[in-house]
Amino acid sequence: MTINTNSSISQIMNKYQGSYTKNETTNVEETPQIFFCYNLKKLWENSMQKEQFLEAMNFRHACKVFDENKKIKSEDLDFILEVGRLSPSSFGMEPWKFLVVQNQDLKEKLRPFCWNQPQITTCSDLVVILSKIDDLKPQNEYVGKMFSRRNLSQENYEKYLNLYANHLSHTMSSDENILAWGARQCYIAMGNMMTAAATIGIDSCPIEGFEKGKIEEILNIDRRKYQLAVIVPFGYRINPQSIKFRLSIDEVVEYL
Ligand SMILES: Cc1cc2nc3c(=O)[nH]c(=O)nc-3n(C[C@H](O)[C@H](O)[C@H](O)COP(=O)(O)O)c2cc1C
Repeated sequence: MTINTNSSISQIMNKYQGSYTKNETTNVEETPQIFFCYNLKKLWENSMQKEQFLEAMNFRHACKVFDENKKIKSEDLDFILEVGRLSPSSFGMEPWKFLVVQNQDLKEKLRPFCWNQPQITTCSDLVVILSKIDDLKPQNEYVGKMFSRRNLSQENYEKYLNLYANHLSHTMSSDENILAWGARQCYIAMGNMMTAAATIGIDSCPIEGFEKGKIEEILNIDRRKYQLAVIVPFGYRINPQSIKFRLSIDEVVEYL
């Protein structure tokens, strides 16, 4: 691994040439040499963090079959779900619910309606992500609750509520549009969970290949309250990872 530190090193040396300061936290006299070592360590740590993160991103792939004998430890599953919970959401509405299917019989019932994909039954934990529907409507007390937990003044509370209702007036015009809005955010949570899983060596596969109505029926979902957004199984791969195909960075990034 190479770290291009040249410009940073000379910047640090120039800045601290001849100036000796005491670090208030450590009470150690910071000579340019100490400061230089400290910053070099920081640069190295940053570089390692990036490398580890990219390693996780490359480790993650759409795993097609999981090892049925390997179960995810509950603390690891908690970690993945916690990352989902911490995901960003529009107006802070947290428009999701994560159903964790661990029951094998239930997984077997769902599989035929997920294009018969083996991930559904071979995974350790099948996370079915639902989008809230009714709760997200401006007149619903849930919306009020989500705003009022911010300790807003009455004036600001009303301002936010009006902004929410006006900005989302088209979104709120049908349950279908609410689902489209909520599901987009559920996908962010799913992406975060898959990345989090990859950082601890757990595989996943985003699944959109399903018959929505059938899955909702099997899971007994009240469609006025929730609708199915996306499904993501977690577990451990049984086969080697497939080749990653991606466009080049120049094809997907444009600087303006
Ligand atoms: C929204 C979405 C839905 C997907 N649905 C499925 C699916 O139903 N079954 C499947 O095997 N893969 C599914 N995939 C995985 C993609 O095929 C895969 O991410 C893509 O081919 C890139 O491969 P990689 O993830 O292994 O890098 C889905 C991916 C996304 C983002």
